[in-house]
Amino acid sequence: MDTPETRSSASTRTRRDVAPVGAKSGNSGGYKRIVYIICAVAALGGLLFGLDQGFIANSLATIDAHYRLGVQGGERYSAILATGGIAGALLSGIFARFLGRKKSLLLAGFIFTAASALSAMLPPLPVLSACRFALGFGVGVASFVVPLYLAETAPVSIRGSMGTLFQLMITIGIFLISLTNVFIARAFSRPSTSLPLMFLTITLFAAMMFFGGFILPESPRWLMLKRRKEQAIAVLQRTMNTQQEIDAEIADIEQALHGPQGTGISIVLRGYFFKVLLVGVLLQMFQQLVGINMMIYYSPTIFGYAGITGLLAAMTVPTVNMLFTFPAIHLVEKWGRKKLLYVGAVAMLVTMVAAGVAFQSIAAHPATISGTAKAVLLVSVVVYIFGFAVSWGPVAWLVCSEIFPLDGREVGMTITTMVNWTFAGLVMGNALSFMKAHGNASIFYVFGGFCVLAIVFVAMFVPETKGITLEEMEFNLKKGVPLRRLGERPNAHTMPVPNEAGGARK
Ligand code: BGC
Repeated sequence: MDTPETRSSASTRTRRDVAPVGAKSGNSGGYKRIVYIICAVAALGGLLFGLDQGFIANSLATIDAHYRLGVQGGERYSAILATGGIAGALLSGIFARFLGRKKSLLLAGFIFTAASALSAMLPPLPVLSACRFALGFGVGVASFVVPLYLAETAPVSIRGSMGTLFQLMITIGIFLISLTNVFIARAFSRPSTSLPLMFLTITLFAAMMFFGGFILPESPRWLMLKRRKEQAIAVLQRTMNTQQEIDAEIADIEQALHGPQGTGISIVLRGYFFKVLLVGVLLQMFQQLVGINMMIYYSPTIFGYAGITGLLAAMTVPTVNMLFTFPAIHLVEKWGRKKLLYVGAVAMLVTMVAAGVAFQSIAAHPATISGTAKAVLLVSVVVYIFGFAVSWGPVAWLVCSEIFPLDGREVGMTITTMVNWTFAGLVMGNALSFMKAHGNASIFYVFGGFCVLAIVFVAMFVPETKGITLEEMEFNLKKGVPLRRLGERPNAHTMPVPNEAGGARK
């Protein structure tokens, strides 16, 4: 496990730190070139997450044509990514701590490159499946290490935005791979030609991440944890502009390292921790049980059931998903997390029911699918994806990075990330079979049902985390404030004054 103290920047990060990407640093004319390289490599980490997650949608037919997987085989192959993701998330804390952040990033880059290149050789199915597991493993590692590395290395004024950039890059990755796979499939009809090219698209970006990783500096916080102060100072000299900034950063890290040391898994037994863990676990569970990855993975297939094909079927979901992640970046601070979760869940509920009704009418007259049914289905999917992208997509991850107390943040985030992948795998591995067994409409009603439960859960248990520092929230939590009121600012005189390193930065 990674110690929380090394993550002091992440932990002390508050909404006050958030500044637009590209904002100028206080004392100088801008950031040094290395800062942009750090951001670019990190962005590639998010992009690869998206490339692997979005790969299936427009390649499934091609994979099936070559490997003859069938519905269940296709589901199994898709879902292996999630199994790898769970393993990667579980071990990433250990890698990050013992290998360091940079080597863990290189490891993820290497796994992405090797596994996608090997897949491009169209090996026997068990090897192809092992490669998909490896890709998932890389995604699991990257989804933990990239935000951690950024939080520890990027200048404070862009740390918050970097976190959001990571989520945005995931959706851009999904979009990009959907688009390239469509065009490759159209340009080359033979799967033995098109499938390698699809995998090699991933290899291209993976190699950029792997080789780009070599020029990255190690995280100064990890170096300090390993008592390599000289090297930490040398890194800060590369990323920061003034000696004053460097001195402040070193003092900050040293102070944090003197704070409470990281707790192991036993922290889950503490009542106050268990409460927020439950919130995080249920948030991530519902993020998947509202059905997003059925749409991401199988929308072309689902549209196909309704007689909608071509570019519209292939690109609607990834495009809407990417576009509506942009407003989320702004709305999450303006409206707050809970309001967005409600808006998203209601939009998804209504549209899931509408899509279910459309599919029922299609099932009643399969020979003559009406224009109305098609239109309802299309609009439902668009509004559904809008509902997810603007809310549950970014907010579930954001709230999970906010609610845990400092001494258990990495344990909490490891568990909640694993829960996310577990339920993602469950959805990916069963959605199509469920539709085949119970009728196409059925699964939409099931996901609609989970939207209702998600709304009740948000109303009863989720705290509003907007506008409160992480330290204030931790104070409330340990004082026994009920979950729903955890985000209310504590009385000024009951709250201890935060110290330089552990308190909120202005
Ligand atoms: C979810 C992924 C999903 C992606 C879609 C993420 O927040 O965790 O499972 O594929 O959003 O944009």
